[in-house]
Amino acid sequence: MKCEVKNNRFIHPEPWLIVSSRDKSGRDNALTIGLAANVSLEPEIIMIAIKKERFSHQIIEQQKEFIVNIAQNDQKELIDYFGTYSGRVIEKLSCYNTIDGDIVNAPIILDCPVNYECKVVKTMTMGSHDLFFGEVVKAHCNSEYLNEEGNIDWKKVSPIHSQ
Ligand SMILES: Cc1cc2nc3c(=O)[nH]c(=O)nc-3n(C[C@H](O)[C@H](O)[C@H](O)COP(=O)(O)O)c2cc1C
Repeated sequence: MKCEVKNNRFIHPEPWLIVSSRDKSGRDNALTIGLAANVSLEPEIIMIAIKKERFSHQIIEQQKEFIVNIAQNDQKELIDYFGTYSGRVIEKLSCYNTIDGDIVNAPIILDCPVNYECKVVKTMTMGSHDLFFGEVVKAHCNSEYLNEEGNIDWKKVSPIHSQ
């Protein structure tokens, strides 16, 4: 028997991503994103949905670039940390090791095994969130998670997502 469901009518599970950015003064920030999707294969475009009030929204809207960092399923503390505090109040990345993106002016979080540098190609408002569509301009992966062809072996990475 089918019953009508009235709340939380979303695709499940959500990928949980950590999106990092750098403002024009050089200040780094990152937040957790659950509303995200692959939206184009050629070119590769990732969509992230961010509420206007987030500090990250202000930065990405201005700078038009961001980095998607993918954590593993045993790194829930990263998801909670970057999804709880605002960069307006604390410098969230001060206790994490980062390196600069090669193309995008934002930090790569070294604790995350996979990182995508993205340039914003389109922005639009959709309901409660603004959508940022980012073309992947460079991808990074820790060498131990690559297969023989040099591609990411997702079985080894085990990306974190909602339960
Ligand atoms: C699991 C999880 C998923 C989240 N997904 C989103 C999201 O998709 N979009 C969004 O705007 N905020 C999302 N948030 C909330 C932000 O990560 C949170 O408000 C963060 O502190 C904002 O940081 P900022 O102000 O430094 O940008 C999520 C939080 C958690 C814990």
